[in-house]
Amino acid sequence: MSLFITFEGGEGSGKSFQSSVLLKLLARDEIAAIQTREPGGTQIGEEISRCVKWQTEPISPLSELLLFNASRCHLIESVIRPALKEGKIVICDRFTDSTLVYQGFGRQLDMNTINEINNLATGGLKPDLTILMDILPGIGLARKHGQKRDRFEKESLTFHNKIRKGYLELAAKEPERWFVIDASKSKEEIAREIWQKVRPLIKQKNDDEIEIEETFSATDYTEPDENAGEGTAE
Ligand code: TMP
Repeated sequence: MSLFITFEGGEGSGKSFQSSVLLKLLARDEIAAIQTREPGGTQIGEEISRCVKWQTEPISPLSELLLFNASRCHLIESVIRPALKEGKIVICDRFTDSTLVYQGFGRQLDMNTINEINNLATGGLKPDLTILMDILPGIGLARKHGQKRDRFEKESLTFHNKIRKGYLELAAKEPERWFVIDASKSKEEIAREIWQKVRPLIKQKNDDEIEIEETFSATDYTEPDENAGEGTAE
């Protein structure tokens, strides 16, 4: 009953928190799932992530595209595809849409080139559902106040506005895959909206035969570590 769910959104949108909450709720209902992230999710991926986020030497947009996709290709081969094959739900914090938005809308790289390289890395793997945590960049970035900023977080507000616009454009083009959430709402409300979206998808995949609770309370998920980035529910 595999299901591939991705979270997307700008800086400080709360993706990582909500993907951890989803994993906890699936664990509560004994549904096998894993949580991973991009860039990262593997040792190689984490090294690429560190390099692409914190490198002080200039990196060209094309090099960025290739680095993110090297991390992606390895993550898919070693983590995502095996988990999907075992029938698990895979929750991934960022995927190919991040590349379309950051390297395309943000860095202005040619979209056809991005699609070609993304497809090469994914072998055509696409998410069943993409949850967009939509937030005004000013609000998202303010949530990161006091934290050290990486290469992307240091970009101008104009850049981050392009990211938001890019996401909304992608979501409007493929509404059946995207689920857009107002990420300025409370964490609890957002968790509820996500659960209301995901639960029927799981039931549908299982011909309605699976036991999965309709409701939950905040005590069903302990505050996850927002920096954890990875986990399993098995
Ligand atoms: P995060 O792990 O804090 O979300 O940081 C990852 C950063 O990398 C974020 O600013 C978005 C950026 N990114 C890209 O530019 N292209 C990509 O393909 C991916 C996956 C992330």
